[in-house]
Amino acid sequence: MDGRPTKTRLIITVDGPAGSGKTTTAKEIAARLGYRHLDSGALYRALTYALLKADIPESDWAALTVDDLSGLGVRAEASVAVVDLYLGDALLGDELRTPEVTRDVPAVAKLRAVRTWLLDIQRRLGLRGSLVADGRDMGSVVFPDADLKVFLVASLEERARRRLLQDTGRVPTASAVEAEAARIHARDAIDSERELSPLQCPEGALELDTTELEFEEQVGAILKRVIDLTE
Ligand code: CDP
Repeated sequence: MDGRPTKTRLIITVDGPAGSGKTTTAKEIAARLGYRHLDSGALYRALTYALLKADIPESDWAALTVDDLSGLGVRAEASVAVVDLYLGDALLGDELRTPEVTRDVPAVAKLRAVRTWLLDIQRRLGLRGSLVADGRDMGSVVFPDADLKVFLVASLEERARRRLLQDTGRVPTASAVEAEAARIHARDAIDSERELSPLQCPEGALELDTTELEFEEQVGAILKRVIDLTE
C-alpha cells in the first residue's frame, strides 16, 4: 500500500464504429467485474423502433420534441447486470436489430431532442458507477470523466465479416461481406459527420485495433488497465 486512495465502482466507456465489437466486449468486461452493462446503441434503436411502430413518417422526426419522445413509451430499467428496454409493457429484444431499425437509427441519432432526452437517461444510469457503457459518444459526451475510456477499431472488411457471422451464425460469402461493408461504411459516415456527438476517439482513450486480436486478448488488454487503476 502506498497510501493512494483505491478506485472502485469505476465507469468504463467503450466506443467505436459499427461492428467493432463494442457491445460484446463491454458486456464481457462488465460480467468479469460484476458491473452493469449499458448498450447505448440499444436506446437509439428502441426510439427508432418506437417511431416506426407508431407510423410517424421520417419527414416529421426533425420536429419531435423531448415531450413527444417521452410520450412514445420507451423506458429503460436497470437490473443487476444490464439495462432492460421496454416499449410500454413489452421487453424489447430482437426487434431492435431488424434491417429497418438498423437502416433508420443514424437518422434518429442525429436529432437534438433525441440526444438531449437520452443524455439524461444515460447519466442517471451512471450515477452509482460500476458501469461499462458502450456506444459512439460514451467517453466524449456522456461520461467525459470516465475512469477508463476505450476506443475499438477494426478493418471495415473484418467488421462486416464479424457482423454477418454474429447475425447468421454462418461464415459469410465474399459478396455478402462486400454488401455488408457498404452498409456499415454508410452508417459510419453519418455517425462520424453529424454535428451532435459525432463518433470520435475520446481524448486519452486506450485505442485497440482488434482486426488481428482474439476476443480474449482484447478483453485481457482492457482488464489489465482496470487492474492498474484499482490496485
Ligand atoms: O452494434 P452497432 O455498432 O452496429 O450499432 P449500435 O451500437 O447498436 O448503434 C446503432 C446506432 O445508434 C449507431 O449507428 C448510431 O447512429 C447510434 N448511436 C449513437 O449515435 N450514439 C451512441 N452512443 C450509440 C449509438
